[in-house]
Amino acid sequence: MKFFLDTANLEELRRGAALGVIDGVTTNPSLIAKEGRPVEERILEICGIVDGDVSAEVVAVEADRMVEEGRRLAAIHRNVVVKVPLTQDGIRATSILSREGIRVNVTLCFSPVQAILAAKAGAYIVSPFAGRLDDLAANGSELIRSIAEVYRIQGFRTQVLAASLRSPLHVFEAARAGAHIATLPFKLLDMLFHHPLTSKGLEKFLKDWREVFPEPPAAV
Ligand code: G3P
Repeated sequence: MKFFLDTANLEELRRGAALGVIDGVTTNPSLIAKEGRPVEERILEICGIVDGDVSAEVVAVEADRMVEEGRRLAAIHRNVVVKVPLTQDGIRATSILSREGIRVNVTLCFSPVQAILAAKAGAYIVSPFAGRLDDLAANGSELIRSIAEVYRIQGFRTQVLAASLRSPLHVFEAARAGAHIATLPFKLLDMLFHHPLTSKGLEKFLKDWREVFPEPPAAV
């Protein structure tokens, strides 16, 4: 499963990229607005930090405008994947852009039948939002599993990108459900590394070692 960072913050992206486990980036209008920089400028900066798919979302809502905006976003850098919402206009824009060879990430997906529409329109990626379903006491991980299953059965090549992830358990469940990609806020990526028994075990290793092989005195 690929790991993407779900942020437009350059410091988070630099820290995440340095770990060597980040394969791409997703942004959305809220994440871009949070940084306060023009989208073209920020997406180009992101492409200079992470060498992988970088999703940039349109803000147009009408299909023809989405297509125009998508073409502009795709022209920023070869790694840009154009993000469109899973609406009728978004699906229509996806079918046009995908026929032009522009890769599309269809986002705000909340049902398996929506995901089928995205695949039929030629989406490169579909982004089901697990966390926002969990927030409503629905089962977000089950959505990921259902989409991955129906894509396998139908032979769709669209990648399932598990989005709106809130916890390490979400990441594990997305991997077990068959997601191709998980996109994580930086804070969640950081959480994945930590386990109290790892810290405790390392502390004991080093303590036992130092008792036999004391630290050499610092060079004067
Ligand atoms: O950026 C797409 C998605 O991961 C955002 O999810 O619910 O954290 O805003 P959320």
